[in-house]
Order: sequence, then structure tokens, then C-alpha cells
Amino acid sequence: MKISKMTSRVLLGAALVGAAATVAGAEETLRSLAEERGRYIGAILNSEWFGGGWGGALEPEFEEIHKAQFNAVVAENEMKFDATEPNQNTFSYDKGDKMVTYAQENKMRVRGHALAWHSQVPAWVDNIRSKSDLLNVLKNHIDNVVTHYKGQVAEWDVVNEAINDDNDHGWRSTGSVWFKNIGAEFLDSAFVWAHAADPDAELCYNDYAIEWGIGEGSKAGFLLKQVDHWIENNIPITCVGTQTHIEISHESTPANVRTLAQELAKRNIVLNITELDIGFPQGSASSLGASDYEKQGHLYRQFMDVFLEEPNMGEFMIWGVTDAHSWLDGSQGKTQGLIYDKQYNKKPAYDSLVASLKAHPASEVKSPYGTVTPADTSASDTAAVDTAAHDTTTTSFIASKGETLGMTLSGRTLSVIGANSAKVEVFNLQGRPVFSEIVTKGSVELSKLTNGMYVVRIMDGSRAMQRRVVIK
Ligand code: XIL
Repeated sequence: MKISKMTSRVLLGAALVGAAATVAGAEETLRSLAEERGRYIGAILNSEWFGGGWGGALEPEFEEIHKAQFNAVVAENEMKFDATEPNQNTFSYDKGDKMVTYAQENKMRVRGHALAWHSQVPAWVDNIRSKSDLLNVLKNHIDNVVTHYKGQVAEWDVVNEAINDDNDHGWRSTGSVWFKNIGAEFLDSAFVWAHAADPDAELCYNDYAIEWGIGEGSKAGFLLKQVDHWIENNIPITCVGTQTHIEISHESTPANVRTLAQELAKRNIVLNITELDIGFPQGSASSLGASDYEKQGHLYRQFMDVFLEEPNMGEFMIWGVTDAHSWLDGSQGKTQGLIYDKQYNKKPAYDSLVASLKAHPASEVKSPYGTVTPADTSASDTAAVDTAAHDTTTTSFIASKGETLGMTLSGRTLSVIGANSAKVEVFNLQGRPVFSEIVTKGSVELSKLTNGMYVVRIMDGSRAMQRRVVIK
């Protein structure tokens, strides 16, 4: 079942990539380039954005850049256990809801971070010692949080950082309230409960230091064995997240991420880059010159190259926007790891990402997630069909030259032009099918769809076309 689910995602992704083509003349951004390629590029909303946290307010440039450059978002701290359930069975969703609203207004994909993690758990959880009580606590947390965000959070980090840091890797046994009192079954259970609460959400295992190869004794090698175990036991994992908090000297890491992606592809699992930053040693900022930032850009570029070339990679998330606001300086002994400097100027790293995207034509980039939400919504102001030309990348869907196949939308009546009988399929912007019918009398009523943007595909034999439409 998994294999066919994954395969259909890949095929659908290829077919719908063209639907997200940038509108001619629109400003080129990381976002527009990623969308053309059916991929997501994102950054955290720093804690300050939520009006809380420790650093005060963010500069207005932050949100302008964030909206323009990214089509995916994750909260730095606001969806963690201590933020969402500060007291037992008392849930706090205000900040997470604020992000979801922002994401919806700006057509962004939301990552949920994180459900079961040893860190940032409230004291009331840390004080529980009974296995059955803790299982109930974890289940209740996952049920409530995932249900609250059902259909709004596309992907959850179900388990975060559960592998220990020893040379001979195993599960993190010290410092984890979950492992210490429940054992390794907390991971399996967390995935099962998350899936039950939102069967459509992608479910990830997320960790750091899995960008160091898959050899004997490696963290990623241990993880791959666990992925095999999960697949064998029908545990509903669909993705792995490599946090990828690295340093400027870590030159072998992009190639290692490629290896990991390819291993996961064999298992039909997506690999996402979830928390990228590439830091310099703390205290070095004043001595860094142009060539240092070029080198940083070179590493960013290699990660983007790998990301675009591996068909089972879907999201490229950076752990911050500007060096003015980064966790690196506060606690990591690193600095200057992001793609905008402290004054919000684009660094060479930004240009490197653009160059990589441009070097990978949309027709060659596969997407595991189907179409991505377009940044430009001007077409949505009318209820008419978007008539811009969108090529598909799957040959069988390209209409033969000279034969016209078209559609018009009037209210909720979709009329097919140039075919006596055609198959009409409608997908939501996550690429999931929401409607399918064979049209024999020229039109079909889309009465059951909720208002919003969709992709309509019409097929008549070997001829096919697809367009974004807005249903109002
Ligand atoms: C960090 C945040 O950036 C900090 O603000 C917070 O104090 C600690 O957590 N791996 C993760 C993230 O999964 O949640 C961490 O975020 C960074 C490392």
C-alpha cells in the first residue's frame, strides 16, 4: 500500500508541476522558482514574530521577506509540547493558530513541529513516572493537537531527536521522559496516534547529525534500520527530516544527504531538509570576508542541488531568515548561518540558492508532494479559468498539436470544450483528488467542493489539459 501511495504521489507531482508556473512578469524569488519546480522552500517564523519570546519584536522587513521568498513555514517554538499543553489537558493554540492563519493567507504549507520530543516538555510531564500514565499523556496530546490542526498542518514531526549521540547509536536513553518510562514503543505509538488523528498528514521522524553518512555506527544507519522496522510493522511513517544544523567546515554533508535520500527512496520515504543553517564559529563575524560568505553559499548551493536532484525530497526549510535573529548565537557557539545578513541584505547564500534552482529546469525536477500553492493569486479574483499556458511534464498528458481541448467555469458549472466525453478530475493544492467524473453532456457541476483554489485536469484519450481554478 505504501509503495503505490508513494508512486502515485510522485506521478501526480510530475503531472501537476506545471500548474504552479510563475505568472509572466512576476518578480523572481526563491518561492517562485521553487513553485515552478513543484517544491517547497521555507523558513521558521521566529518566536518574536508571535509577539512573545525573548527578543522583542521583529523588524517589518522580516515578514515582507518571509512572505515573498517562502511557501512553507514552521514555528520556532510555538507548536512544541510546552507551548501547546503547558498544563495537563489545557491546550494553548493561539500562537499556532496565528501561524496557520498567516500560512493560509499567504498560501504556505505548514510543518508541525514537534509532537514527541525529550526537550521543551513541561515540568508536569517530566514528573510522571508511570508507563501507562505517560502513554495516556502522549496519546491525549497527539489526539488533541493533531485533531485541532487536521487538514491545516500538512506534515508533523511526530518524533524529534530520539536517537542518542554515542558512537554506537541506539535510542536516547538519558534525558528522555518518553524513552526512560515507556521504552522504544513510544515512537511506534506516536506515529499510529498521529495517523489516526489526521490520516492525510505526512508523518516524519526528525533528527540532527543524520547528515554524517549511513556507515557502521552512524546515526543515519541506525535510523534506516528503524525505518525498516516501522515499514515491516505498518507504522505510518512517510518522511524523515534531516535538521542539518551544520558548520562551514562540514563539506561532506551535502553528499551524505544525497546518500540518505537515495536509501530512503528505496523505502518509499520522503527526505526533507527541515532546519538548515550553516554557521561560522562564534566570535568570527568581524573577521569574515567575501570569500567566507561565498564558501557558505557554495554549501547552501550543494544542498539545493541535492534537494532538486533527488525525487523523494520535498521541503527545504531554513532555521531562520536573517542573521539578526538566529538560535545559533544564543546557544550553539556559531554565528552568521542564514541567507540574509543582519541588515536583511541578501548574502551570497541567497544567490547560490537562486542559481541552483535556475540550473535545474522545472521539467527535470520531480516532486513527491504534487503541485504547490502558487504565490500569485491574481487569477483567483475572478471565477474564470486561469488560461495561462502550463506545460505538464508527463508526456501522456500533453494534448496533441492542433487539437483543442478547453474548459470554462461559470459559477460552479465546468464546461468541457472540444470533447464529447472526457474525464474531469479535480485536485486540491496538496495534489489530493477531491472530485472525478466522466462528462458526457458537456458540463459538470462542482457543487460539493468547498470554496478555494483547485487544479482541474481534463482528459480525453491521449489529450489532456489542466488549469488552476477558483471555486467561489
Ligand atoms: C530551538 C529554537 O530555535 C530555540 O529558540 C529554542 O530555545 C530551542 O530550540 N532542533 C530542533 C528545534 O528540533 O526545535 C530547535 O529549535 C533547534 C534544534
